[in-house]
Amino acid sequence: MTKKTVAVLFGGVSPEHGVSLESAAAVLENMDKDKYIPLPVGITRAGDWYRYDGPAERIRADAWASDRDELTPVTVSLSRSERGFLELRGGCCTPLPVDAVFPVLHGRNGEDGTVQGVMELAGIPLVGCGVLASALCMDKDRAHRLVREAGVAVPRAVTFDKADRDKAPALLEGFAYPLYVKPLRAGSSFGITRVTAPEGLRPAIDGALAYDTAVTVEEEIPGFEVGCAVMGTDKLTVGRVDEVEVSGGFFGFEEKYRGRDSQVHMPARISPEKEREIRDTAVKIYRALGCAGFARVDMFLTPEGRIVFNEVNTIPGFTAHSRFPRMLEGVGLSFREVLDRLITDALEGKDR
Ligand SMILES: Nc1ncnc2c1ncn2[C@@H]1O[C@H](COP(=O)(O)OP(=O)(O)O)[C@@H](O)[C@H]1O
Ligand SMILES: [Mg+2]
Repeated sequence: MTKKTVAVLFGGVSPEHGVSLESAAAVLENMDKDKYIPLPVGITRAGDWYRYDGPAERIRADAWASDRDELTPVTVSLSRSERGFLELRGGCCTPLPVDAVFPVLHGRNGEDGTVQGVMELAGIPLVGCGVLASALCMDKDRAHRLVREAGVAVPRAVTFDKADRDKAPALLEGFAYPLYVKPLRAGSSFGITRVTAPEGLRPAIDGALAYDTAVTVEEEIPGFEVGCAVMGTDKLTVGRVDEVEVSGGFFGFEEKYRGRDSQVHMPARISPEKEREIRDTAVKIYRALGCAGFARVDMFLTPEGRIVFNEVNTIPGFTAHSRFPRMLEGVGLSFREVLDRLITDALEGKDR
């Protein structure tokens, strides 16, 4: 069997650049080298693309971009007769063929359909969701509308553009505090504020607008957040359900990545019947949004046992101790096997 070259994209022009570096280093280290040749391709915060020949450790340490000797400028070849990248040196271009691309990019300009569109246009097999599902899952309002249409409950919410920010108090007439004020399209809890009284609204909206041109405001759902890993395109593999326990406040950046005041229980401390219902709901949401490859579906479980949709992360955190791989470990799949399945699914997608 000839080994397949898999480009692993990391970094990116996103507030979640740093989170991507940690995920990508783990993906590079855990990919089965008997089957695959990983090709690290880094995107700087300024948006320049480089093939990177240094070790994964330097990516994790956010030091890769200063290793000048290890960097070769590259761009994606949009010509399908040269599927892959073009190295840009000595005047112009040397083809750098790849069999698949795994964008390990979180948030804007990576998880939102933009990179996916480039790869689809270039005819390069892509790990994970395509353009439409990526874009929809990035937009918390439009994702909620489709999921509600599929028969799953969503929080009461309003969404408005920057120009309408003064209308927020009127739009929120009758809403019960606490409220969550969020940038419409962001991640890692950036720009999100839990607001407990009307006077907190304005600064929270301004905070969200630092990340996006539109804001969505939701009523708080009591209970706790649960997640479910879904993997596959035609035939799905569904992981165990996990539970996020947050003591005070909400699941913010520090809680997510530094473990502050929070704990993830895998599996969730719920009944087998409730877990089954959550897994079925996760699949319904995955299908409603047209997901492919993989995604982590996040929901809330209320004290009365109601399941309410929160969001879908189409490129969830991907270190060995991240939630997505751990939920699949719960159904007997190692990190390496998960990666193998994701890449195989992308390669098969070529014939789909
Ligand atoms: N409607 C809500 N009710 C209760 N908690 C919420 C609600 N919306 C968000 N949260 C809390 O805020 C966190 C981040 O919100 P989320 O919409 O998941 O944004 P991100 O895309 O940044 O992860 C959630 O993990 C949860 O702890
Ligand atoms: Mg979230």
